[in-house]
Amino acid sequence: MEPIKLNATPTSLQGELFIPGDKSISHRSVMFGAIANGRTTVTNFLMGEDCLSTISCFQKLGVTIEHKDEKVIIEGNGLDGLVEPKDILDVGNSGTTIRLLSGILSGRDFHCTLIGDSSIGKRPMTRVVNPLRTMGARIDGRNNGEFTPLSIRGGQLNSMSYQLPVASAQVKSAVLFAGLQAEGTTTVTEPVATRDHTERMIKRFGGDITVEGKEIHINGGQTLTGTEIHVPGDISSAAFFLVAGCIVPNSEIVLKNVGLNPTRTGIMDVLNMMGATVAVKFDESEVFEPVGDLVVKTSSLSGITIEGDIIPRLIDEIPIIALLATQASGTTVIKDAHELKVKETNRIDTVVNELKKLGADIEATDDGMIIHGGTPLKGALVNSHGDHRIGMMLAIASVICEGELFLENAEAISVSYPSFFEHLNSLM
Ligand code: S3P
Repeated sequence: MEPIKLNATPTSLQGELFIPGDKSISHRSVMFGAIANGRTTVTNFLMGEDCLSTISCFQKLGVTIEHKDEKVIIEGNGLDGLVEPKDILDVGNSGTTIRLLSGILSGRDFHCTLIGDSSIGKRPMTRVVNPLRTMGARIDGRNNGEFTPLSIRGGQLNSMSYQLPVASAQVKSAVLFAGLQAEGTTTVTEPVATRDHTERMIKRFGGDITVEGKEIHINGGQTLTGTEIHVPGDISSAAFFLVAGCIVPNSEIVLKNVGLNPTRTGIMDVLNMMGATVAVKFDESEVFEPVGDLVVKTSSLSGITIEGDIIPRLIDEIPIIALLATQASGTTVIKDAHELKVKETNRIDTVVNELKKLGADIEATDDGMIIHGGTPLKGALVNSHGDHRIGMMLAIASVICEGELFLENAEAISVSYPSFFEHLNSLM
């Protein structure tokens, strides 16, 4: 596709947005709905390409799933209702789909092959393949299971006690899905707390799971029951407008119904530490996943160091935090974020290289980046490299750039936020 030209430099951003459904929660709602007994109805589902890939995989596994607008109805027939697919399962660009699905398929007594796009083909799968093999699944793949295509023949699984080598909610969730089907109790220990949507959702579907600090215990052989899920707005999508509201002069943006699960709100802590003006109003009636409305106003910001346990709580927001840091006074240092290298792109390289093209003073380090702030940005030809969050970060950059910005591979944005440009334009 031709690059798109972005050259609006509004004098302010004003308005109210309903942020689309959370990607992580949308994926899980279909997965649990598909393995539960009975009907699950999901509202405010994210109709992004990643979540549509999850729906299509479960349809190929024999589950009846209907969707219209943001409503999805899943007719679950329990884990035994899944059938051997006649075709390969294509996860598209979605790491969450392939990793969590591998955990589910590990306990199913049939064969299937999983593939994805060129980005998925470069992402490490050993992190899920190894523990699932230990539990008894037969999994193979390119380079001995490191990369897709993956071929899985599941069956009876043994429980285990697993210390996660990386802080990853995807790996944790894959092992928990396998643990649900294993004999006995499976324990997963996290090095650092990661998003807990899987744990919350197991309870929502009537399952039993115990969390004791960083240890999570799940018993095999449980039966889950279909339910109703209203997906909160995705804070990872809201993050682009939180930053836009801070850095565009004279702005005030209201973001409605945003998921505020504490395992995801690292961006709020960072905004607070940098001196941003963001008001939060929790919806006290919501218990499944915390939600609330946010109001962000133009703010003067100072650079900070972001490191340690906060990293998993904002890992997907680092590209847009980097843009924010270019507009803060002083230096921002991001450390302990090696995981950025194995996201949809190597996000240390793509963030640094693309922001440098716009004139940012930013350098890559082995586990993050260093950004010297207070730099005016200038339009240039930039590229999302097929990474939705890089595409959106660059589109927000265009709003403060002097001159025209041309964005290549902008279509990647529909992976997680199909209405992104419509929302951005509505604020101008
Ligand atoms: C996700 C977990 C994170 C995150 C990804 C979604 C999930 O990945 O970056 O966008 O839904 O569990 P890791 O588990 O690889 O950290």
